[in-house]
Amino acid sequence: MKKIIVAILVMVVALGSVFAQGGVEGQSVVINKDKPFVFFNRQPSDPTTGVIDMESMNWNDKTFYVGFDAAGGGAVQGKLILDYLATCDASIDRNGDGTIGYVLCIGDVGHNDSKARTQGIREALGTWNGSTDPGKAVAGKVTIAGKTYKVVELEGKAMTGTDGSTWNANAATDAMSGWATKYGKQIDLVVSNNDGMAMGCLQASNYPAGVPVFGYDANADAIEAIGAGKLSGTVSQNVDAQATATLQVLRNLVDGLTGSDVWTKGISEPDQYGNKISADMEYVASTKALLAKNAGVNADNWTDYKAGSRDTGIKQSTAPVKKILLTIYNSGDNFLSSSYLPALYYYAPLLGIDLTVVQGDGQNESSCLDKFTNLSSFDGYAVNMVKTNSGRDYLDKLKY
Ligand code: BGC
Repeated sequence: MKKIIVAILVMVVALGSVFAQGGVEGQSVVINKDKPFVFFNRQPSDPTTGVIDMESMNWNDKTFYVGFDAAGGGAVQGKLILDYLATCDASIDRNGDGTIGYVLCIGDVGHNDSKARTQGIREALGTWNGSTDPGKAVAGKVTIAGKTYKVVELEGKAMTGTDGSTWNANAATDAMSGWATKYGKQIDLVVSNNDGMAMGCLQASNYPAGVPVFGYDANADAIEAIGAGKLSGTVSQNVDAQATATLQVLRNLVDGLTGSDVWTKGISEPDQYGNKISADMEYVASTKALLAKNAGVNADNWTDYKAGSRDTGIKQSTAPVKKILLTIYNSGDNFLSSSYLPALYYYAPLLGIDLTVVQGDGQNESSCLDKFTNLSSFDGYAVNMVKTNSGRDYLDKLKY
């Protein structure tokens, strides 16, 4: 009898521990709301004010943002344009009216990256007046070959596609076509907040030949276009560093790292498997953001940014495979589909990450949210929202 009581007691204790761990065979099961969550490329923020949505960022202690230094990038783009203008002569002013006229492809007025680039460009050209909205630029000035020119933003446009998607390259082709007709030789410069739209402008059949055009992202086709003398410059936001960091932060979190180990291991120092991103990244504690640095790319250095070179600091690791669900706001976005996603697919297997990627249509959050499912079968999540203020919609799905 004593033996039976002891046996029952042992069973009760064993069962109790299984329940406490929420699983079987001694495996502790993490509930969805406590899993790692990384926002990337689109920082949770207010589309109007740009203020970071810290409520989403503080969802749990495993929530982070991985992106790049947006404000710094705007300044790099502005400087790239000024450096170019410094090499020009009077022929840059095509109609000789003493004014440099430019048109601006804004992208998505509610996106932090877009806002930062508009600001950086306008600050460099002296047309900044405190607002990133279209039509809010003032007259600036710039000195070219010893002569001071007035600078005017002839028009700036968000570039929303007929399907409602933002950063739309076709919209940029249409806009450029209209601008070329409307402004003619008043256009001396074309500036775009991303490469997709810059390349879109160049597609306009009436693109004013020889007018300099600047993009942002250093997509492979844009780099080739610089080599071919069609694009004047772009900015690399170091997509390899960003894609790897998105995965590395998740790796660190699923491995149970905490505190500063989350944003340093494999990033500023080797992780337990010997991997480390080669580029420098900055961690901003107040917004839980890990940011890559930007670099200007032009005719002098474009060969350094040709496609195909990957970070040799990341090698095949022995890390146990973990499953991550990753959303991309728009399958048609040039930067995400031609630069970011290939980088993710390259680095994920090296870091022992089994990625499931779902993509949206760039306009309806539901196009991503409806595929943000089967959440219990994943170890963590990486989210690129359609709208920057939708963080909560994804997080709320983890409650159940
Ligand atoms: C990129 C754009 C892209 C956008 C999407 C930006 O950081 O520069 O090309 O369209 O992200 O969110």
